[in-house]
Amino acid sequence: MCGITGYIGYRDAYPIVIKGLKRLEYRGYDSAGIMMFDGTKIQLSKTKGKVADLEDIINKEQSRKNGNLGIGHTRWATHGVPNNVNSHPHTSQSGNLVIVHNGIIENYDALRKELISRGYVFKSDTDTEVLINLIEDVKKNEACKLGKAVQLALNNVIGAYAIAVFDKAKPDEIVVARLGSPIAIGVGKDNTEFFIASDASPFIEYTKNAIYLEDEELAIIKIGKGIKIHKIKGDAQVHANVQKLKLSLDQIEKSGYDHFMLKEIHEQPKAIIDTYRGRMLADEGIIRLSGIDDNINRFLNAERIIIVACGTSWHAGLVGEYLIEDKARIPVEVEYASEFRYRNPIITSKDVVIAISQSGETADTLAAIKLAKAKGAFVFGICNVVGSSIARETHAGAYTHAGPEIGVASTKAFTTQITLLTLIALKLASKKGEISKPQLREFMQEMQLIPKKIEALLKIEDKVKEIAAVYKNATNCLYLGRGFNFPVALEGALKLKEISYIHAEGYPAAEMKHGPIALIDENMPIFVIATSKGHYEKVVSNIQEIKSRAGKIIAIVTEGDTQVREIADHVIEIPETAEALTPLLTTIPFQLLSYHIAVMLNKNVDQPRNLAKSVTVE
Ligand code: F6R
Repeated sequence: MCGITGYIGYRDAYPIVIKGLKRLEYRGYDSAGIMMFDGTKIQLSKTKGKVADLEDIINKEQSRKNGNLGIGHTRWATHGVPNNVNSHPHTSQSGNLVIVHNGIIENYDALRKELISRGYVFKSDTDTEVLINLIEDVKKNEACKLGKAVQLALNNVIGAYAIAVFDKAKPDEIVVARLGSPIAIGVGKDNTEFFIASDASPFIEYTKNAIYLEDEELAIIKIGKGIKIHKIKGDAQVHANVQKLKLSLDQIEKSGYDHFMLKEIHEQPKAIIDTYRGRMLADEGIIRLSGIDDNINRFLNAERIIIVACGTSWHAGLVGEYLIEDKARIPVEVEYASEFRYRNPIITSKDVVIAISQSGETADTLAAIKLAKAKGAFVFGICNVVGSSIARETHAGAYTHAGPEIGVASTKAFTTQITLLTLIALKLASKKGEISKPQLREFMQEMQLIPKKIEALLKIEDKVKEIAAVYKNATNCLYLGRGFNFPVALEGALKLKEISYIHAEGYPAAEMKHGPIALIDENMPIFVIATSKGHYEKVVSNIQEIKSRAGKIIAIVTEGDTQVREIADHVIEIPETAEALTPLLTTIPFQLLSYHIAVMLNKNVDQPRNLAKSVTVE
């Protein structure tokens, strides 16, 4: 939610900040803005729209910004509609302080009223303008430096933030702070330059050295001097832990694909191998997952496992429930993190909570983890982003190693989360003696074939395109699946609605009779997963029911199927595999279908309206 970036050093800051904003645009793209300082003047440009719109305006006005210091923002609106005034950066009343902010100030209304009573006038509806005026007010009243003023102001704030603040009186300095929203600092050579960003992608070509601020930390970044990190509460100084970045430039570029989403769909065979590499020793029948091995008794003694997640990660969690119960025979519950955190759930020290999150920053999932920990549960994280807040907050965990997922619609995160959940299920099954060594070996050998089978499936893209062309103007769609493929139906519907804006619902196939069947007519496309091993005959009956009501049937079947082919309007074949592994294959045609429909409808595939990649507000 919102991306912030900045530069201070000896280079022209403008292209660095603009390029950085483009890389962070997946975090929000309602509006964009930049502030540059040239040693005397604060130069500000901001607009509703995307970073490209901001650039257009700057180019048209010939108001190219100069200076070696700049901060920028790409917004996902929380307080105040996306318009020019509400866009960041925001300045204080005096015009001397400038801020970019990612997060929400919950007590902004009370603070605003207090500041108004002291003569402050607000131009925007944002909580961020309240914060920068609060900092100005503290600075004036306490006669302190910028860093101290930011610290004191933040002690009066309730909410979440990652901020970068600039003071005209301190032209060699930027102050950053975080609570709940990420911030990385790129460290240049000999303190000659520094980069700031919501993730490391904006500065990857300039430095591999980065510091990730922890929650409740504030850093004063000063040219020639370095970085001083303090706790926001109290004055304790914190050691700056410089990490070596592993991210490479080609991982965050489109590499010849039209969209990140398509690139990420095609990356799945490799991403899945990266997830199980070194963990799955198929020939030996061994699974190595240190986060589980080191805490095996917590898992084996668990009365139940509770999986918490949001969106696509929640769908992966549902597949996880089917896998863990089927293979390891441990009871599993799957909860929306947003419900779990507020519904006063019963959690005990006998519970193991598995939190799943691609970004590792989702606010509701993070809050669910904190709640579970407070109640004594052991919390295991499945994240993609290394060093993310959720990865740090959990007792133990495993990374999916899918590589950066930049398209807002999640694809490779889903299949790699399922891959990891499969390994966890197998590991627990083998520790509990629920699966024999030969069975485990056989299953893992089958799993090793999945990447090649996905590669084969990706070759049917032209066929999926033809189907997309037929149904691109549908206004409502149903997705049906049973067993392991019920969550895939939910995920298929989510993919379609989020990038093409076509209304779609996912259902367990047999539930269709209990309501959705009323929707079926000759205009309704129904996507059904009818693979040979997942309650095939039952699904075929469901397909017959649809046929009798003239619905259009697009079925995903196993290679060689003849029965469904006779009834369905279109079939897409997937290679044969073990039933529990079918979600890794059945989801691929749905991803491609959503992608091509959205492209045909001229939608912004990578940045669908109203969405953002990393939901750091609740
Ligand atoms: C859908 C999508 C979202 C995310 C959800 C959770 O394509 O991307 O539904 O899955 O916001 O995000 P993470 O996994 O980062 O916690």
